Parts: sequence; structure tokens; C-alpha cells
Amino acid sequence: MTAEVAPAVSGTVSTEIVLEADGLTKHFPVRAALSREKKAVRAVENVSLRLRRGSVTALVGESGSGKSTVARLLAQLYPLTSGEIRLHGEPVAVQRGWGRGRRFRAYCRRVQMIFQDPFASLNPVHTIRYHLTRALSIHGNRGDDLEKSLADLLSRVHLTPADRYLDRYPHELSGGQRQRVAIARALAASPEVLLADEPVSMLDVSIRLGVLNLLRDLKERLHLSILYITHDIASARYFADETVVMYAGQVVEGGDSETVTQRPAHPYTQLLIESAPDPDRPAVEEKDGGAGEPPSLIDPPAGCRFHPRCPFAMDVCRTELPPRFELGDGHFAACWLYREDAS
Ligand SMILES: Nc1ncnc2c1ncn2[C@@H]1O[C@H](COP(=O)(O)OP(=O)(O)OP(=O)(O)O)[C@@H](O)[C@H]1O
Ligand code: SF4
Ligand SMILES: [Mg+2]
Repeated sequence: MTAEVAPAVSGTVSTEIVLEADGLTKHFPVRAALSREKKAVRAVENVSLRLRRGSVTALVGESGSGKSTVARLLAQLYPLTSGEIRLHGEPVAVQRGWGRGRRFRAYCRRVQMIFQDPFASLNPVHTIRYHLTRALSIHGNRGDDLEKSLADLLSRVHLTPADRYLDRYPHELSGGQRQRVAIARALAASPEVLLADEPVSMLDVSIRLGVLNLLRDLKERLHLSILYITHDIASARYFADETVVMYAGQVVEGGDSETVTQRPAHPYTQLLIESAPDPDRPAVEEKDGGAGEPPSLIDPPAGCRFHPRCPFAMDVCRTELPPRFELGDGHFAACWLYREDAS
């Protein structure tokens, strides 16, 4: 195991953008009790991000910040409220209803999701062979020799020899092995993009690194674009080429992972890093949940959504939404502190 992070942009790694979201917005309508007023949870607001070929992008933020909603929008599991998703520059048609149709299946083949809980995503009454055979068949990837295709899939996720696993049921495997099977099933589609929603957070700490290393290995060997959703900004530094930070439904900072985690510009990112457990630093006293609670998304604060918690809040922060200010080399922060740096 090595702690080195492959650079996002290097000789052979292309910077080709595979999947791109522009102004992604999702409001969930809710009806307040005892009121006819129509309200909405503004779960995701104007989120833009890019996933590059052969590269991992981490999407980091606290619970409820909208990370899973972004992944589901990118997977076309929900219709967008507004915004656009492009795959290789081609706008993806907005799916109404629950993803029926040939175009949706074609999209799924290229953009696959991996969920937090591999137990919930695998059917307990079916064997690993069944899950993988079905996925290969659905996506037209069975090949002439099914046994070989199955063995290839399992070897890609380092479950070898295949016959030790194929006829087992999900409950007969460890959590880490189950997540590897879920990854193998996603690979059965021969995807270009993996949307991994907290893929290791339910796993024992001791096996998390193994699964992250597997994903990194797949990124390198299969040139996959991976969106890695996590609460854990320390793992983003270790594992992701680029890091994007969300707060209360909006992107507040982004750039290469080294810069975002070593020189965080946005006060929220700074707070996340200060409150992250750091193995090199002795435990300090608890930071009372990081100085305050996240805001309501039904009635979010005006201006910068972080202003009620921000130690640097100025008058402008309470009324004007900060745009993205470029800080150089692709690093940006949506914070009025950087206004003067913007040209
Ligand atoms: N189907 C839905 N209907 C109404 N509100 C929703 C729905 N799905 C998500 N939300 C709300 O949208 C907000 C963002 O939720 P989301 O699950 O995307 O956050 P998250 O960052 O993934 O959180 P976590 O880290 O806990 O998984 C939350 O306030 C959540 O309650
Ligand atoms: S815009 Fe203002 S309130 Fe928001 S993070 Fe920056 S300084 Fe703090
Ligand atoms: Mg989530």
C-alpha cells in the first residue's frame, strides 16, 4: 500500500471531461403541516462539476448537504429542477418518470452507481453468480464464454479464485467482499463513470483502504471517471485527484485535492478540516459539532448560506450570494473574502 496520490493531470492521464453538470438544481416539493403554502427543500442549488477520464473527484460535505442528491441527478434517477448534464459534451435528455426507455438504459451502461450499503444493494436470495450473470446479460456483455466473463469480473475486484465466490450468497461474504461484488456488478456494464456514494462508510475501518485502493486501481487500469462521495475530507486527500466541497446544497470550494485539503480557502472547508480526525494529531476537545448546525434548506439563510456559522461573516455575506472566485490553477472558493483577488 502506498499513500501517494496519482496526479490528476499527468503525461498519459487525459484531462478529457466525461461527465459534466452545469447549474444542477433540485427542489423537492413539501407541504408544510396545517398550511396550504407550497414549499420546497432546496436540496441542490446551482451545482456545477466535471468528471474527467481516469480521475477521481471527491464530493465532500456534512450530512444533508446534498451529495447523494447530486449523485442521483447524475445517474438520472430524478428529473432536474433545472440545469444540464452532458456526457462527452452531449446534453443528456431529462428523464421523466422513473427512467424507462432505451436511452436511459444506454446511459446506465455508461454511468453506474455504487451505494453505501452493499447488503441492501444485493438481493439476499440470489448468489453472486446470479447477480453478475444478470448484470452482464442486461448490458449485453455476457460474451461467448460466460464462466470466463464471470471470472474476469471477479478478478478485477480481486476476488480470486472465482469459484470460491460465485456460488455463495451475499450473507456468506464479509462487508468488504460484498462491496467488491457490488463494484464487479457495476463493472459488468463496462461503464465510463462510477458514482460511488459513500462506498466505504459502512465498512469496518480496517478494510476501507483496501476498497479505496481497488477503486483507484480501476480508475488507473480502466481509465474510469469516479465521483467519490464522502463525509471524510481526509480520505478525499488520500484518494481523490480533485475535491469539491458542498455546503447546504451549494458548492463552496473546489480544486485539486492537495490544494483544497492543505490550503483550504473557504471558511467551511477550514472548519471541516479542523474537525476531521487526524491520525497525526492528538485528539483535541470536541468542537461542538463544528460551531453550529447546518441551516434549513426550506428557508435557507440569505446571502452566503454559511454566514450564520462563519467567524469571518461581513455585511455583504448576509445579503449577497458569493460567486466563485478563482484562486489560480483551477482552485476556487465561493466566498466574499476573495473578492479582491478576483479580476
Ligand atoms: N426525496 C426527497 N424528498 C424530500 N427531501 C429530500 C429527498 N431526498 C433528499 N432530501 C433532502 O435533501 C437534502 C439533501 O439530502 P442528501 O441525501 O442529498 O444529502 P447528503 O449530503 O447525501 O447527506 P448524507 O451525508 O446524510 O447522506 C436533505 O435535506 C434531505 O432531507
Ligand atoms: S462569504 Fe462571508 S459568510 Fe460566507 S464563508 Fe465567506 S466570509 Fe464567511
Ligand atoms: Mg448521502
